Amino acid sequence: MSLTTCNVHFSQQSDKIVYLSRSLYKQLKLSGKRSIQLKLGNEIITATVRQLSRSGNHLYLSAGVRSSFRVPKSGNVYVLSTADDELQLGPLVGILTDTINQGDSYPFGSLSGFIKQVIRTGDRKAYMFGFTPNDINWQQETVNGYFLNAQGDWFRKIVPLPDVVYNRLPNRKAETSPFISSIRERFVKRKIPLFNWSFLNKADVYTLLDKDPEALAHLPESVPNPSSNKIKEMLEKYHFLYYKPGGGSLGIGIYRLTYHPTRGYFVRYRSGSENVLLRYNNFQSMMKMLQNRLGSRVNQYVVQQGIRLLEIDRCQLDFRFHMHKNGNNQWIPAGIGAKKAGRGSVTTHVKSGGTLMTPEHALSRAFGSEANVILEKAKRVAIKLSEAIERNYPHRLGELGLDIGIDMQGNIWMFEANAKPGRSIFKHPALRSEGKASVSYIFEHCLYLSRFQGGKGL
Ligand SMILES: Nc1ncnc2c1ncn2[C@@H]1O[C@H](COP(=O)(O)OP(=O)(O)O)[C@@H](O)[C@H]1O
Ligand SMILES: [Mg+2]
Repeated sequence: MSLTTCNVHFSQQSDKIVYLSRSLYKQLKLSGKRSIQLKLGNEIITATVRQLSRSGNHLYLSAGVRSSFRVPKSGNVYVLSTADDELQLGPLVGILTDTINQGDSYPFGSLSGFIKQVIRTGDRKAYMFGFTPNDINWQQETVNGYFLNAQGDWFRKIVPLPDVVYNRLPNRKAETSPFISSIRERFVKRKIPLFNWSFLNKADVYTLLDKDPEALAHLPESVPNPSSNKIKEMLEKYHFLYYKPGGGSLGIGIYRLTYHPTRGYFVRYRSGSENVLLRYNNFQSMMKMLQNRLGSRVNQYVVQQGIRLLEIDRCQLDFRFHMHKNGNNQWIPAGIGAKKAGRGSVTTHVKSGGTLMTPEHALSRAFGSEANVILEKAKRVAIKLSEAIERNYPHRLGELGLDIGIDMQGNIWMFEANAKPGRSIFKHPALRSEGKASVSYIFEHCLYLSRFQGGKGL
């Protein structure tokens, strides 16, 4: 096994000969070989190989070779000698996504900027492209991908099925359709690694961690689709609950329930741009209001023990841990944002008046000189939680956005795990370099999954 980069040139000859500069031929340990298997994605061809005297690592693909070998572009890329006489170019990495609004001028709507950023990280190393479900041709086993040229403009190119798929399909609902499920199954059947499998549903995450003591220590008690009696019992036990939609996001539809033995029951939620606070004398009338508001969605809800979060300026504080698997397949907290809730808001989302801070700044206001100890502890917990989710989840994961709370005693709690985490924390000026690191981890993990790695692990 050996891995190096080479400069791929397109020549106009019609023969089926691949020319390699002498040093490349030597590095790839081809001595004595007259023919090679040349691989890209799931496509493989046999070609005659010859040496050429030119310094540096160069590889020439003739028009004859290219007629049956769909290399997307010339220029630098990794080349891996996998078996005795097999050379693989790539990796070929596909980012699966979709247009949200038909007729958008960019292929991937608001995700275009992010997808460009991921593709650019692979510049001169890999062949990275974006594609949508409709760009796959399963009969031919090809994809009509969107590649970027040197000017940063998109161009289309038909390539073989990729070595790895990074799933960023944007629509929670569409992702559960039989069409999308069959796409994922087909990649898996062909042993093409795909991460992440799908959006995660809160209720599913709580259920899958239900028998994992290491994770349970950091999960507020959670009950999917609770009966009224269960909610009452939990209110008596904790006096404070969150009631939230299992498949929700952005804080939409979240209710904060509190019980005060003498003053009654309180419900807080957000309605449009307002924070609402209601008081009830008895449990039944509160439940009636909730059931009326939720209608048939009620069975999608989860009730959860409320955690008294750290506060600064009398506003609660929580954290987004953006986790990635790196090139060694280990979980890394790539970026951490602290979010301070708007006054009176039940969640910390910026859309509900929350503000973004660095974790160091937020924690030093709450814990003073202890801040760093707490932050390091939270990082260790976030890694353990990611590992726990991964070991209990039947599909492949490579990126997670964990919503983490810290209470006054410094205990660490997880509210939610997002498998397609948003990137708004990286807009904070102090978190830009973490944003870049996050994209690099995606690329490194693609190299790991496609086995384009030198040394260890091969
Ligand atoms: N059990 C809880 N205790 C305290 N605060 C919570 C709890 N659950 C949620 N929150 C607060 O509400 C926010 C949104 O909840 P989350 O479960 O992440 O839902 P969403 O999918 O809408 O983001 C959290 O980031 C946290 O600030
Ligand atoms: Mg959340």
